[in-house]
Amino acid sequence: MHVSIVGSGYVGTTVAAAFADAGHRVTAIDIDPAVVEGLNAGESPIEEPGVGALIAEYGGEELIATTEFGRAAGSELTLVAVPTPTGPDGAIDASYVASAVESLDAVVDDEHVIAIKSTVVPDALRTEIAPLVDGPTLATNPEFLREGTALEDFRNPHKLVFGADESAERAYDLLAELYAPIRRATEAEPAVIRTGRDAAMLIKYANNAFLASKISLINDIGNIAKQHGIDAYEIADAIGTDPRISDQFLRSGVGYGGSCFPKDIKSIINSATEQGYEPLMLEATTELNDRQPERLLELFDQYVDPEGEQVAVLGLAFKPGTDDTRNSRAIPVIEGLDARGADVVGYDPVATLDGHDIEHADTAAEALAGAHGALVVTDWDEFAALDEEFDRMAEPVVVDGRRIVERREGITYEGLTW
Ligand code: UGA
Repeated sequence: MHVSIVGSGYVGTTVAAAFADAGHRVTAIDIDPAVVEGLNAGESPIEEPGVGALIAEYGGEELIATTEFGRAAGSELTLVAVPTPTGPDGAIDASYVASAVESLDAVVDDEHVIAIKSTVVPDALRTEIAPLVDGPTLATNPEFLREGTALEDFRNPHKLVFGADESAERAYDLLAELYAPIRRATEAEPAVIRTGRDAAMLIKYANNAFLASKISLINDIGNIAKQHGIDAYEIADAIGTDPRISDQFLRSGVGYGGSCFPKDIKSIINSATEQGYEPLMLEATTELNDRQPERLLELFDQYVDPEGEQVAVLGLAFKPGTDDTRNSRAIPVIEGLDARGADVVGYDPVATLDGHDIEHADTAAEALAGAHGALVVTDWDEFAALDEEFDRMAEPVVVDGRRIVERREGITYEGLTW
């Protein structure tokens, strides 16, 4: 099959690489000439395990990148995977999706299926995107892969969600054909959900809302456990044995970050509120998440007055395995330390945080040496191996937001929820 993919971010590039590897011909369309040139030379624009090797193998051959939307006309189906950023009120900016869809609509024939992979609230899809399509079929095909394990997740999906209203059978058939080699190669057969165009998008929001709420709920319980001097991870291990709860996404701590959960929860709240419904659970999910970094700082305040002192922040990425700092919990933690007059020295194995008042250390040891306390924000494995490095701190206080550092003699250790 010949498929086009608009957008070469971490979703678009991963999906393009995986489909090329699955035997499809792929046209990758991106507005950035440098990204296009790189892809055709076999260079991946993103850092994801396994993706670079596939782009090196297929880039410029089975996977051809271009800045010209007209090239989509040669394919039967186009996936749109461009960003949907949000404004301060949470409303999504669907303009990148709109512009891609408008450009595609002008060049493809009426048999073509345009499937939106970007996350768009149903009302924006109906009012801002659907009216731009005149002829081809507009479908939705949300994506559930995670950063850091994107290729593996994409190749082993729990579910495939195909959303379409007009010419639905044709859209479902083309999407089924597209994913057939993925389904054949996967370990466990995914559920295939054929539904309406808007419902498919709401499935995506519901999936992220549920997971984010699970994290906020375990953080709520974790804060209660801490009040009683009880380890919230013991509680999580116990309740996680109930298959109705499951043991996943039960790690309490400083909260969720990244480019998806914070944004998606705020967008769905905004969309519901605009239409007269106040989603109380989701509001609480967001508020709890915003409070966890504050709680980490309050715990720190009990031991250290950081004014004019060096303080270490361990971890800048929103989770381990990525250099992505979007909505990282490190940001409010650093802002809180800055407000307290601290000199923040941050360390992360791969991420750097621009635009914030911190110095970057090359190693955790360097960040800790002479520091009046450390706050742990990302659960990188290497933090579990830290030991003598703590001995060089001026005040050996470690406040851990991810339960990655071992409680040990010689340091004052506080866990956020344990
Ligand atoms: C998330 C979803 O997991 C994907 O299914 C979805 O496709 C993606 O958003 C998206 O919408 O594109 P991602 O943001 O890459 O994926 O990262 P996750 O692994 O889900 O972690 C999100 C945040 O939750 C991280 O900050 C992580 O530290 C935090 N987290 C996760 C916890 O605090 N506790 C947990 O138990 C699990």
